[in-house]
Order: sequence, then structure tokens, then C-alpha cells
Amino acid sequence: MNNALVQLSYLVATGLFIFALHWMNAPLTARKGVYAGVAAMVIAIGATWAQPEVVHHGWIVLAIIAGVAVGVPLSMVPLTAVPQRTALSHAFGGLAAGLVGTAKYYLWFSEGPQHLTTFRMVAIIVEIILGYLTFTGSLLAAGKLQEVKWIPQRPVTYPLQNVTNLGLLALAAVVGVALTLNPTAAWAPALFPVVILLALVFGVLLIIPIGGADMPTVIAILNSYAGLAAVAMGFVLDNKLLITAGALDGASGLILAIIMCKAMNRSFLNVLFGAFGQAQPVKTGGDQKIYREETIEGGAQVLEQANLVVIIPGYGMAVAQAQHKVRELYDQLKKRGVSVKFAIHPVAGRMPGHMNVLLAEADIPYTDLVEMDDINPDMPQCDVALVVGANDVVNPSARNEKTSPIYGMPIIDADKARTVFAIKRSKNPGFAGIDNELYFSDRTWMLFGDAKNVVGELVKQLSGSAVH
Ligand code: TAP
Repeated sequence: MNNALVQLSYLVATGLFIFALHWMNAPLTARKGVYAGVAAMVIAIGATWAQPEVVHHGWIVLAIIAGVAVGVPLSMVPLTAVPQRTALSHAFGGLAAGLVGTAKYYLWFSEGPQHLTTFRMVAIIVEIILGYLTFTGSLLAAGKLQEVKWIPQRPVTYPLQNVTNLGLLALAAVVGVALTLNPTAAWAPALFPVVILLALVFGVLLIIPIGGADMPTVIAILNSYAGLAAVAMGFVLDNKLLITAGALDGASGLILAIIMCKAMNRSFLNVLFGAFGQAQPVKTGGDQKIYREETIEGGAQVLEQANLVVIIPGYGMAVAQAQHKVRELYDQLKKRGVSVKFAIHPVAGRMPGHMNVLLAEADIPYTDLVEMDDINPDMPQCDVALVVGANDVVNPSARNEKTSPIYGMPIIDADKARTVFAIKRSKNPGFAGIDNELYFSDRTWMLFGDAKNVVGELVKQLSGSAVH
């Protein structure tokens, strides 16, 4: 393939990547976005493969087979495991960038000093530092999210932690500068692995103090590091598509991390250095808090007499895979002329859009999915707020308790509804590990049990009773 055609293909692929991201913004066009992304990737691989300097076709076929063998099972993980699956993808991306940078350095070193220009050396050093730290950081993050037994889930902290971490990164940068200034010195090839080692260790130390609710945000930040590593790789390989695709990847990761931080009222620096998610001291003494329980019959009766029911789904709906039963409940209530809306919190579940994906899977009309800021003004007029496996995102302590670790996080105002029914299995707290005042409020009635079973029972009860 001649160079003009390759560059044209890269341009088309870049355009498709941009449209893919744009289309994935809305549920209606998301599928089209996925197809555009796949088409862009196929064009990118095909055009690169067709370049005359690519001669080892056997290796490429082997790499594709290995990629498919790993990628297909990875694509089949349950939706609740998508954050750790995504972290694994970033780990592979980071490792690829790191390995390419390493190979290029030693190749150019052996081919002669004219190859190791200052520009290339800067790109290589940035590529290997970002690539290798993304590799170990993402692997550790995936392990934490998967709750691998021998990896501590809670933040591990020690004195002078941030100083040590930043010192290590600064050391890697200083060694990198020395290499950039003397890339062909006799000692340079021996010093190069030191940067790699420091980056690998920094990746681990960066993630160790982070835990709990901040982990998914960190995944998005690592996403942007992987994208930036790909940009640097694009400069090393002089490949324009890698530069544009890496920049899109880096920017989208950054935007996602900002959206998540905003939805949790946390700052970037706080996520990275705040050691959030440590075990909270359990409050002792004081009044024993009482949960009030409701029966399925009682719950169904109140639901069918309501004018407006707002269903607030959370992580528990995903765990129970209750979305199809929720759809049946929606149908039953609609049949009775009840207005039913879904309140969507931006960080409900474990990944952005988690609830939208599940509810779309159950064919719930998008028009009945209402964002937090739009539904909150209606909550005082809501007859029943039905909380399905949500906890932190409806916890009023985020509004009322200055000492709460989630203070300031915007929440769905379930507590303002006339009646609240909350479905969960036990008295355990949510992801942030804190008590939820909503469950002890005099407006709240618990429906303890697995979300799929409880909603299923409500549906049975409603479908058994006459339609008014
Ligand atoms: P959580 O606060 O994690 O609460 C989920 C609740 O579901 C738990 O209280 C649990 O109680 C219940 N549950 C679990 N399995 C269940 C089942 N099978 N049936 C019924 N209930 C079940 O979830 P949330 O309210 O969706 O909040 C999300 C949390 O993740 C927030 O802290 C948020 O900051 C964090 N986070 C999310 C994201 C994104 S992007 N989504 C990113 C960063 C952080 P039981 O164990 O008693 O059943």
C-alpha cells in the first residue's frame, strides 16, 4: 500500500474513532458507536500491516491469535466486573507501549547514534515511564477491584508516603533526563532498565494508598495515562494514527475521571493522594437504630395506589440481575396508570452508565430514565421512592453530616419522598462502608431480600390483584 493511501486510511480511522466516542454518548446511538470503533480498529490494523517495512507477517498473525484468545473471554465477563476488565486492558496497553519503547531504544542504540535524537529520546522516556507505571498500577487496581485475597482492598498508608512516591517519580525523571542527554554513552543501555524498574515500582506505590469508592475513578485516570503512553509511542514510531487515537483515549479517560470526581464531590488530588476508603470507626453507644420492615403485600398495595413512583436502582440491582423483574414491575404499575420514573445517579453501580446499560437491556424506555439533577426537584411530590439495591447514592449523610466521608457528594433525594421502600439483603453498608440514615427514617420501610426475588414477589402480588 503506498504511503498516501496509508495516511488516508489513518484519517478515516481517526474520523471513525471520533464518531464512535460521540455516538457512545447516548443509548440510542451507542451500538452504532461500537460498530464505528470496530471498523476504525480494523482499518488501522490493516493499513499498518500493509506498510512495506512490515516483513514479519508470521509474528503479526501470532499476535492477533494471542489477542483474540485473551480478548474474547475478557469480553464475556459480567457487567459488574467491567471496571477490573477495563483495568486489565489498560495494563496490556501500558505494557505494549513500554515494550515498544524499550525495543526501539536498544534497536536504535545498536544501529548508530544518529537515530537517538533528543526528540526521540524524550518520547521514549515519556512512553516507558507512563507505559510501565500504567502496567503495574492497572494490574494492582484490577486485583483490588476483583477482591483478590492476597491484595489488601483498603488503602495502605505509611508516613511520608506521598513524598516517597513523588521522590521515586522524580528520580525516574532525572535518570530519564540523563539518558536523553547521553543516549549513546557506554553506560546508557545499563541505566535504561533503572527507569523501567522505577516506573514499575511507582505504578504499584501509586495504587496502594487508594481504595474503596475511589478505585473506579483511578481506572479512568490510568486510562488517560495509557492514552498518553500511546501518544508518546506514536511519536517514537512516527505513526500519526497512534498519536490521534492515543490523544482521544487520554482525553476521554481524563474527562471520565473528572465527571466521576464531580459526581462524588472529590478532587483529583484527593483521589490520588487522599487515601479514601479506609475503614471507618464503628460508632458505639447511643440509641439502637431500628429498621422497620414491610411485607410484600403491604408494599404492593402502597405502590399501586401511588401517582408517582420513582425507582432508584443501584449496584444491588446489577448484582441480583433484577433489571428484567424491574421492567415487569414497571409494566404492572403503568397498567394501573401510575407514573413511573427511574432516577439515575451518575456513579450508581460500579461504572459510568452502569444503570443505563442494565435498564436498556430490559427495554425500559429511555424517556423514563431521569438524571439526578432533573429528578431531585420532583422528589417531594413522589409518593413512593423504591430503592433497588442502592445505598451510598441515596445516603442523606452526604448532605447532612459534615464528618461523613461522602459529605458533599450529590445524592438522589429519596428521603424527601412521601414513602420509601428499600430493597437490600442485609443491614450491611454500601461501597463507602458507612451507615445510611435513610433506612432508619420514619418514612422508610425495608423489604429485605435479594432484589430479583423481592421485585419478582411484588410483581406476582400485583399481577394477582385486579387492575383498577
Ligand atoms: P452501594 O453503595 O455499593 O450499595 C449497594 C447496595 O446493594 C448494598 O447496600 C447491598 O446491600 C445491596 N445489594 C447487593 N447485592 C444485592 C442483591 N443481590 N439484592 C439486593 N441488594 C443487594 O451502591 P450504589 O448506591 O449504587 O453506589 C455506588 C457506589 O460506588 C458509590 O459509593 C460510588 O461512589 C461508588 N463508585 C461508583 C462509580 C461508578 S462510575 N459507578 C465510580 C466510583 C465509585 P446488602 O449487602 O445488604 O444486600
